[in-house]
Amino acid sequence: MDIEQDISLWQRRVAEGPEGAARRLAAFAALDLRPGLSVLDIGCGGGHLVRDLALAVGADGRAVGIDPNEKQLAAARELCADLPAVELHAGIAGELPLGDGEIDGLASVQTLEYVPDVAGALAECRRVLKPGGRAVFISVLWDHWRFHGPDPALNEAMHEVWRGHCAHQMLPIEMPERLAATGFGGIGQRAIAFMNRHLHENTAAFWNAKMVAMFAVVQGVEETAARRWLDELNAADAEGRFAFVSMPIVTTATAI
Ligand SMILES: C[S@@+](CC[C@H](N)C(=O)[O-])C[C@H]1O[C@@H](n2cnc3c(N)ncnc32)[C@H](O)[C@@H]1O
Repeated sequence: MDIEQDISLWQRRVAEGPEGAARRLAAFAALDLRPGLSVLDIGCGGGHLVRDLALAVGADGRAVGIDPNEKQLAAARELCADLPAVELHAGIAGELPLGDGEIDGLASVQTLEYVPDVAGALAECRRVLKPGGRAVFISVLWDHWRFHGPDPALNEAMHEVWRGHCAHQMLPIEMPERLAATGFGGIGQRAIAFMNRHLHENTAAFWNAKMVAMFAVVQGVEETAARRWLDELNAADAEGRFAFVSMPIVTTATAI
């Protein structure tokens, strides 16, 4: 079992599904793109947003994706192979491989919550953006990210372990203050919350449940407990008691 491979694939399945498309639309709409612009996606994963950005900026523009995960970058290269505007680099948010003021707009979707030094990452965002350049960040309010249906004690234990999967549980609440301190203005926020009532392959819930179970086992939870949690999710679905709720927050800002 290659855990990194599985998680990368499951993240891409979420990105391809309706909830991933909704996030991409929110990021895309916030950037007000036109041909010839240079845009950046930080934590580009499998490259779905980079592809949308490249189609908007055209062959005279640049759509740059950065991600530290080589498996994600390989998938992104394949997805974007026909688009000359696309540049994909191995890199991290805190050390962007770009010059000062090179970029007209940037997006980062469900990534900054995994970055320990958010202040450093935002400083890099401000550095590479032109004054007046737009930025859009989407992060999840993880305290409100929840499966419903299994035995409450087991369910609570699984969510508690899952808290360890990212560095910042409630980053969107901190974002306006952090952005204002880093040279951004015009800051706005809105929620793109959703609820899945079933576990099928075209729901974020289906892939997220697999990720939680695998992460829990890696963290030392008994495989039988993780398996029981998954079985109870499926039983709840069959009985009409299942729900999965997530509240991603879109934060938009302009470089001053
Ligand atoms: C949940 S995935 C989201 C991928 C994509 N943005 C999407 O919405 O489908 C998080 C991504 O952030 C990347 N990542 C993790 N740490 C990072 C860092 N320090 N800088 C940039 N990207 C990072 C991961 O490799 C992964 O591809």
